Amino acid sequence: MPDRFDLPAGFRWGVATAAYQIEGAVEEDGRGPSVWDTFSARPGAVRDGHTGAVACDHYHRYPEDIALMEGLGLDGYRFSIAWPRVLPTGTATVNPAGLAFYDRLVDDLLAAGITPLPTLFHWDLPQALEDAGGWLNRDTAYRFAEYAAVVADRLGDRVPAWITLNEPFVHTVFGYALGTHAPGRALMFESLPAAHHQLLAHGLAASLLHERGLEVMLSNNLTPVWPASDSAEDGAAARAYDALHNRLFTDPVLLGTYPDLSALGVPDDIYGAIRPGDTDLIHTPGLDGLGVNYYNPTRIAAPTDPGLPFDLVDIPDVPHTAFGWPVVPDGLRQLLTGLKESYGAALPPITITENGCSVEESTTPDQPRIDFLAGHLDALAQAVAEGIDVRGYYTWSLIDNYEWSEGFSQRFGLVHVDFETQKRTPRASYAWYRDLIAVHRRRFAE
Ligand code: FCB
Repeated sequence: MPDRFDLPAGFRWGVATAAYQIEGAVEEDGRGPSVWDTFSARPGAVRDGHTGAVACDHYHRYPEDIALMEGLGLDGYRFSIAWPRVLPTGTATVNPAGLAFYDRLVDDLLAAGITPLPTLFHWDLPQALEDAGGWLNRDTAYRFAEYAAVVADRLGDRVPAWITLNEPFVHTVFGYALGTHAPGRALMFESLPAAHHQLLAHGLAASLLHERGLEVMLSNNLTPVWPASDSAEDGAAARAYDALHNRLFTDPVLLGTYPDLSALGVPDDIYGAIRPGDTDLIHTPGLDGLGVNYYNPTRIAAPTDPGLPFDLVDIPDVPHTAFGWPVVPDGLRQLLTGLKESYGAALPPITITENGCSVEESTTPDQPRIDFLAGHLDALAQAVAEGIDVRGYYTWSLIDNYEWSEGFSQRFGLVHVDFETQKRTPRASYAWYRDLIAVHRRRFAE
């Protein structure tokens, strides 16, 4: 029985998912195509040619999935809203059936005692907006703000807090710099206008959400950056990587400034994308909470290839997940205390909006996942003991799902999904998490 995680009263326990990874029903009830429908249909783009056309069929099976959440005793559920379900071409015409789906989901969550925590953009851009330039087009930021207002006007009476974007770093780098995610562009650093336009979208939407009395968060993928050695070269490379991965997506929001990207060869105005007043639009609305998605630290060495200012190198002598990601629970504590050092009073309360691991399907009884979660919750409790204000923890993920370019090969769920039959089978980690939540609640009920 896990009873050692010393987290505060009122700490919120949750799970996280995303629309394209679980919903399926991509052509149903008027949903428009997204960049992920297009990208996953491209031969060779996704492992085994998998697409999210059916995924976990959550669009039809959401009552069963809510029952699984109820069984865990969750406080909150982080899910994402599919922009192309609500606005099939990204703008102008609202699809009532799309909005109605999220309306039902929210009502059923509330009936189960679970607070909905929606993310407005988890990478499934309407294809029509991609055809007009996607996030490289400044206009997409304004379309996002309109979409945010449409959804907030419908659900804001029941949904108190909202996440604007999920991991703009990963979306920019994989989607626009390297081309391994949708929309599959490989522009290297010239992709960075897409980062600025997402941050602008966040700021514009945050203002509209605040006008409606709603709380706003942004979920960033953050990583402690470890130089591979004490050498000046490795140190400089690590600082360049930290600016790209962490600070580019956090400084503008919390401080109203962009980090120095000159080591990457990126001009101060990010190739003309930053216009006068933009940093105010991003910063002034403020952030009610920072969503932290943590998976692993990143170890950086000086470049061997002159094309890049850094090299990513493996972290030896630690376990690795089925995905090959190094398991370093203390990295979470380092990350959180590092955020406090960097941002001080400008750092809002933190919620861990993703953390989890993929485990080989054959592994029983799911011990690596339990060890992963236990280790990270220990590190989290340690960070709290060191003075970091952390309000909640949403593990990735409730159910096995579509892991982007890895297709269905990476299993991150507390619940196993048989993708042939859609049968859900809770794993040992499900019971472990349920018991942990119950123990935490009991401690404060006495
Ligand atoms: C994060 C994504 C999430 C999921 C996990 C494993 O980067 O936000 O959708 O794929 O990784």
